[in-house]
Amino acid sequence: MSSEPTLLEMQQIEKRFPGVHALKAVDFDLHAGEVHVLLGENGAGKSTLMKVLCGTESRDSGQIIIRGEPTDDLTPKQAQELGIGMVFQELSLVPALSVAENILIGRLPRRSFGMIDWSQANDIARENLARLGVTHIDPHTPVRQLNVAEQQLTEIARVLSRDCQILLLDEPTSALSETEVDRLFETIQRLREQAVGIIYISHRLDEVARIGQRVTVMRDGAVVGTMPVEAADRDTVVQLMVGHKPGEQRADAQRRTGPSLLRIENLTVQDHLYQLTLELHQGEILGIFGLMGAGQTELADALFGLLPHESGAIFIDNQPVQIDHPGDAVAAGIGYLTRDRRGSLIPVQPIAPNVTLPLIGGLPLLRSLNLRDERSAANKYIQDLQVRPPDLNRSVRYLSGGNQQKVLLARWMHSGARILIFDEPTRGIDVGAKAEVFALMRRLANDGIGIIMISSEIPEVLSMSDRILVMRDGRFKAEYASEKPTQAELLHSASYATEQVS
Ligand SMILES: Nc1ncnc2c1ncn2[C@@H]1O[C@H](COP(=O)(O)OP(=O)(O)OP(=O)(O)O)[C@@H](O)[C@H]1O
Ligand SMILES: [Mg+2]
Repeated sequence: MSSEPTLLEMQQIEKRFPGVHALKAVDFDLHAGEVHVLLGENGAGKSTLMKVLCGTESRDSGQIIIRGEPTDDLTPKQAQELGIGMVFQELSLVPALSVAENILIGRLPRRSFGMIDWSQANDIARENLARLGVTHIDPHTPVRQLNVAEQQLTEIARVLSRDCQILLLDEPTSALSETEVDRLFETIQRLREQAVGIIYISHRLDEVARIGQRVTVMRDGAVVGTMPVEAADRDTVVQLMVGHKPGEQRADAQRRTGPSLLRIENLTVQDHLYQLTLELHQGEILGIFGLMGAGQTELADALFGLLPHESGAIFIDNQPVQIDHPGDAVAAGIGYLTRDRRGSLIPVQPIAPNVTLPLIGGLPLLRSLNLRDERSAANKYIQDLQVRPPDLNRSVRYLSGGNQQKVLLARWMHSGARILIFDEPTRGIDVGAKAEVFALMRRLANDGIGIIMISSEIPEVLSMSDRILVMRDGRFKAEYASEKPTQAELLHSASYATEQVS
C-alpha cells in the first residue's frame, strides 16, 4: 500500500471543546485505494477528527495536507471541492424532502430557464441507490417515511453521487442488515479500484479484517497505534482501545427465571406478523434474532401499542391487557428502546434530566422533579455505563454518538418498567462499554425484570440470551433454550434462501 500516493496527511491536529481535549496532536494519513479503519472507545475523538477534515469543525492547530497541498481551515464547501465526502454518524437528511432531493441537495439538475429536471434527478438518485444494490426505495418518497436502514442507505448514496476521492464513513453499517453490509463492502471495493481512499469508523470489530488495509486506534483524543490489518487482531486492538486487557463479555449463564411475566397469543399484524405466540418470564433475557425485515421491530412496535394488531391477546402476570397505544404499554409496565433513536433525547438538556424524565408513549415528558433524587439516580447509571465525560450538567448534544446511546439506555433502565424491550441496544457502543451494558441487563433480570432483546449481532444474541427465538417472514421459525445454537445454525434458521431450494 505504501507505494500508492498519499492522498491525505493530517499532522499534529489539536482540538479542544470547553472542558474536553478532544484531539491531542493527532497524526493520520490515507493512501489512494486503501480503507483505513479508525477505531476507539466512545468519546475517543473519531468523529471529531473526521469533522475537522470535512470542515464542519475547525481545528485549533495542526496541518492538513491534501494531495501534497497544505490547506487552511476548511469550510464544508471547500472540503467538498477537494473531493472529501462524509457519511455522518448521526444521519443528516432532511425528513420532509424526498429521497432524490436529499441525495442531490444543492445540486439538483436543471433544464433551461432554471426549471428543475425532476426526471433526471430521480434517475440520478435511482442510479446511486442501485450502486448499493438498493432498488426498493422510490426516489419520490419523503425521507421521513423511510426506516433507519433506508435512511442510512440514502445517506450513503448521497455521498457516492458526489464522486469523492476521500470518503469518510462514520459507522455506516450500524443500522444495516448483513446483505446490505455486503453490498456496501462491494461498493467500497469498487471505489478502491478507482483509487478512492476511505476512512472507515466502526465498532463492529469483525468488519475490520473484511474491509480494511490499515488500522489506527485512538484513545482519549490521541492516536495510540497504526498498523497493517494483519497485525490488528481483536485482542491487540481491544487492548489498545481500552488501555488494558478487556474483561470477558459473557455474563453469568446461571439463569433462574420466575413465573410468566408477559404472554402473547396468536398476535397478528396485517402484512407483518402472523399468529405469534411467546412467553417471557420474570428474570429472563429473551433474545429475538432475525435478518432485517423479519418482523422483529414490528413485534416490538405492536407490543408497545405503536402498531395496531388485528387479532391476538396479550397477558401480563396472566391477566389480559389491552394495548392500543403507547400510553397503555407504559401503564402496563413496558419500556421500549426503539431502533430509531432520533427524537427521544432532548439535546439541549443536560444528562441528568435526560435519564430521569418520566416517559409517556416512549417520549420524555417535561416536569419538575426533585433535583437531588434526579442527580443521584442519573449518577448511578452514568457511572455504571461509563458515560464520558461523566458530567451530569453537560448538554446531551455535546456527547459522542455512543455516549448518547448510553444515556438512552440509562433512561430505560431507570424507568421502573418491568418489561423492557431493547431493539439493538448496543448499537454504536464500544467493546468495553458493551460488557457493562450486558452486566446491567443481567442485574435488572436478576431483580425480576423481563427483557426482550432484539439484535442482529449473532455473538451478542448468543452470549446474552437465556432463550432465543428466531424470526423469519413475520413468524417464529425456531427456538433455542438450554442448547445454544452455533452461529451457523442461527443464521441458517433465519435465512430465506435455505427453504426455497428446489
Ligand atoms: N460540539 C461539542 N462540544 C463539546 N464537546 C464535544 C463536542 N463534540 C464532541 N465533544 C466531545 O469530544 C469528545 C470526542 O467526541 P467524538 O464524538 O469525537 O467521539 P467518538 O470517538 O466519535 O465516539 P463514539 O464512538 O461514541 O461516536 C467527547 O468527549 C465529546 O463529548
Ligand atoms: Mg462518533
